[in-house]
Amino acid sequence: MDKVIEFSKNMQFTYCDSILEIIYLVASILFILGLKMLSHPETAKRGNLLAAGGMLIAIIGTLFLHRHNGHRMGNYMYIFIAIALGTAVGWIIARRVKMTKMPELVSFFNGMGGAAAALISLMEFPHIDKELIAQHGLLNWQALVIFLGLVIGSISFAGSMIAYGKLDGKIKDIRSKLLRVINIILLISIAVFIAFLMTRGQADLKTLSPFVYLLLIVSLIYGVLFVLPIGGADMPVVISLLNSFTGVAAAMGGFLYNNLVMLTGGILVGSAGTILTILMCKAMNRSLFNVIVGAFGATASTHESEQGSIKEISISDIAVLLSYSQKIMIVPGYGLAVAQAQHLTYELDKLLSEKGVDVKYAIHPVAGRMPGHMNVLLAEADVPYEKLIESDEANTDMQNVDVAVIVGANDVVNPAAENDPSSPIYGMPIVQALKAKNIIVMKRGMGKGYAAIENNLFYDDKTRMLFGNAKDSIQTIISEIKSI
Ligand code: TAP
Repeated sequence: MDKVIEFSKNMQFTYCDSILEIIYLVASILFILGLKMLSHPETAKRGNLLAAGGMLIAIIGTLFLHRHNGHRMGNYMYIFIAIALGTAVGWIIARRVKMTKMPELVSFFNGMGGAAAALISLMEFPHIDKELIAQHGLLNWQALVIFLGLVIGSISFAGSMIAYGKLDGKIKDIRSKLLRVINIILLISIAVFIAFLMTRGQADLKTLSPFVYLLLIVSLIYGVLFVLPIGGADMPVVISLLNSFTGVAAAMGGFLYNNLVMLTGGILVGSAGTILTILMCKAMNRSLFNVIVGAFGATASTHESEQGSIKEISISDIAVLLSYSQKIMIVPGYGLAVAQAQHLTYELDKLLSEKGVDVKYAIHPVAGRMPGHMNVLLAEADVPYEKLIESDEANTDMQNVDVAVIVGANDVVNPAAENDPSSPIYGMPIVQALKAKNIIVMKRGMGKGYAAIENNLFYDDKTRMLFGNAKDSIQTIISEIKSI
């Protein structure tokens, strides 16, 4: 009889395991499809829902079907309370956050992912397989995965928190050559620490625990120090790098638990983040090594070249200039997002297009505050995708453009990136609005951009400034054009 019960129990476990494996497979496929759909504004929303659905079934499946040594998961009450709290907090924050604060939110959530991965490693260190330790000491794959998860996860957590503070304007850039040296020393110490721990042979895990905490602290310090000096226009690269770190750290958890869905999710985030980092590095003309040791950009420039005077333009002059142009290039920037001027910008575009004007948008890869920020905004306003041109391509035709209309952009059109080696944005490709026949800049005043540097484009002979909130300015221009 006992054997029958034992057999039926085993069958039940195998049955649960198989269903769980299928759920993980379906969830992984949903992640991949979701990620693919995220690459286009039209399908991005559905892709997001699809991937979230995958995560939901993976969580429910794990909760109810996962068995460890034949036992179901315990601590259900704590787990449900934690899930309820996390869901409520996440829901409220996501509903309340303004579009312009989205990058900070993404940084914060990314940091939470890193922290979770680091905590998994801390929790699992004392439970490394005894058999593995008996055979290989700590020189085994489980220990390696735990240490890597701990280091990468905590760097990602600490770095993301600093990035959050910087995007929010609460933390200022701190740059010094000493910091670069300290960062290199910290990186070497982390490697030495891991090597030290892994060569402890059969040592008691409890006696090694303080060293693991020390490794955590050194990694956290490195996370803080490697993001601290990064400023100017270089944050986008760091944000995507931290994103990939969190993915890799989560994948380490997947290896550790032999969990397919965690592994797939982590690898997808890690590889997508890595590809984005490489693209960002190319877009910003930076090297990845410099990001890792936190020696990004030039030191803050105090040099400001001589400027002429600002020339303003009246609404009626703009209306005439735009209406009688053949080619117009709109250059959107962070200010367009702040003003939420995307819908009116497209209305202006349609009005001018009806008059036979060729209107296009030059999209700089780091315009705004998050990757694809301008694409998302303009897609929200239904601007056809074909009208959005990458800055490299826009630059090749810029000399034929009658008017470059800069809406709330600053750093991404700053010529200092091309002609001032002391500038923190030197080397970053820009939208070369200066090459257009006329330039109109819409901004509220003479406020600086994210890199906090002067922009000589605003003082150029061809440039005319229209001060005011971009949305109000565009609304007035539309009314004026209609009355012509
Ligand atoms: P910024 O250089 O930040 O300039 C935005 C300009 O918009 C400001 O000079 C501001 O001038 C103006 N502005 C603000 N609110 C406005 C409003 N309501 N109406 C009209 N104008 C307004 O923007 P950008 O050219 O898009 O460059 C982006 C910068 O952010 C780059 O340095 C980039 O590296 C950095 N960054 C990007 C990312 C990503 S991934 N995209 C992430 C982090 C940092 P006034 O105050 O005078 O109005």
